Amino acid sequence: MRRHLLYPGSFDPPTLGHLDLIRRGHGVFPKLTVAVLRNGAKSPLFSVEERLQMLRKLTKGLKGVSVDSFDGLLIDYIRRLKNPVVLRGLRVVSDFEYEFQMALMNRKLEPTFEVLYMMPDERYSYISASLVREVARLGGPVEKFVPDEVARRVREAMAGKVSEG
Ligand code: PNS
Repeated sequence: MRRHLLYPGSFDPPTLGHLDLIRRGHGVFPKLTVAVLRNGAKSPLFSVEERLQMLRKLTKGLKGVSVDSFDGLLIDYIRRLKNPVVLRGLRVVSDFEYEFQMALMNRKLEPTFEVLYMMPDERYSYISASLVREVARLGGPVEKFVPDEVARRVREAMAGKVSEG
């Protein structure tokens, strides 16, 4: 029986939806690893180190939850961790197509690959990290979409940009 859940993603930035999913995953599996992809987007809002710091702060106190990062193929990382089950969120129908392709590709690459989909609370179903990045970059408020710690860092990052430019 597998008891380890792996939640991989970009988390740029971590949103209330991500946090909701972490809590849900934590509620059903004793061990959960949140893993940030290193070789992701070319111009992220936050560096991988900043995202790791934020995720560590957000998951502090959740026993059995750890935060890590990975490079390269997800299935290679999964093999190194001895085959955890992958956790992914499904918010809206349009998520399904991408997740479906990714899951089947991963399963072709590694036949033991398993994925568990969970739905975040409906309050968060419209929130995506990419929309939050856009709002942040255009100077809008992000408090309703991300945890307080992340909102604070977004404000800091934007204040830095304004004074630099
Ligand atoms: O938060 P995201 O951006 O939706 O997460 C996507 C992620 C990181 C899970 C996916 O891009 C991934 O697994 N990337 C690692 C590279 C890889 O294995 N690609 C093949 C996937 S079929």
